[in-house]
Amino acid sequence: MRRLILALILFLPASIALANEGGIELQKAHTDINDKASLQAGAKLFVNYCMGCHSIKYSRYQRMAKDLGLSDAEVMKNLMFSGDKIGDTMTIAMNPDDAKRWFGVTPPDLSTIARARGTDWLYTYLLSFYLDPKRPMGVNNLVFKDVGMPHVLWDRQGWQKAVHETVTDAHGNKHEVIKLELVDKADEAKAKSYRLDVLNLVNFLDYAGEPAKLQRYSLGWKVILFLAIFFIFAYLLKKEYWRDVH
Ligand code: HEC
Repeated sequence: MRRLILALILFLPASIALANEGGIELQKAHTDINDKASLQAGAKLFVNYCMGCHSIKYSRYQRMAKDLGLSDAEVMKNLMFSGDKIGDTMTIAMNPDDAKRWFGVTPPDLSTIARARGTDWLYTYLLSFYLDPKRPMGVNNLVFKDVGMPHVLWDRQGWQKAVHETVTDAHGNKHEVIKLELVDKADEAKAKSYRLDVLNLVNFLDYAGEPAKLQRYSLGWKVILFLAIFFIFAYLLKKEYWRDVH
């Protein structure tokens, strides 16, 4: 029995990891949240291409301005569209019910996605959309099978198609692997600069996860303070009750 439990503990994480990525090797995202130019480029892409559908509701425009080394005026001019105020959080106007009708699933808030999925996963995800006429949006994704999101950055990358190949490993076993190739070879230079776009976007999402982390820490302290005060009262009450018993 003990061995079975041990086997389960050892095996489960591996099987979950494989299920998530469909056995696809993740590409390394060499992000650096201290690189301000990269964060600024990522923020610009995010508000232009992603915020139609995804919020990052724990981030505030003003805080972002400060962290990214931009003035409030620059952020208002280049990174805000919808009549929001500089002190607002980065929410979106799209109604979740409409979104569900359009995409079959509501696009999630991306505040903590970098920590939930990891930056390598995000990087690989954004690089791995490919044409699939069987899907409602006309695309599928190597690391997110049957994804409900369209390839919103296709004009910056060019379209990719999946090519199935059979490879034989060192033990003589045959495996089918899927590789992605550009449909139009002329898009090669574009696809290369798209990798930089994606790196900047992932860097920005990684940064956006930080204010949320700080918020959680401050909440954590409040909880600990509450417990400490509660402990004092509980202790005094206990002393009071036991006084009569002794
Ligand atoms: C037209 C709407 C739309 C736009 C624009 C859009 N997405 Fe999405 N996105 C979705 C939907 C819908 C899903 C949920 C997919 C699913 O669960 O099948 C999603 C899912 C995701 C996920 C996976 C979340 C998870 O559950 O792990 C990531 C990451 C993501 N989007 C990033 C982005 C980024 C980055 C951009 C901008 C480049 C972007 N999205 C633009 C609709 C959109």
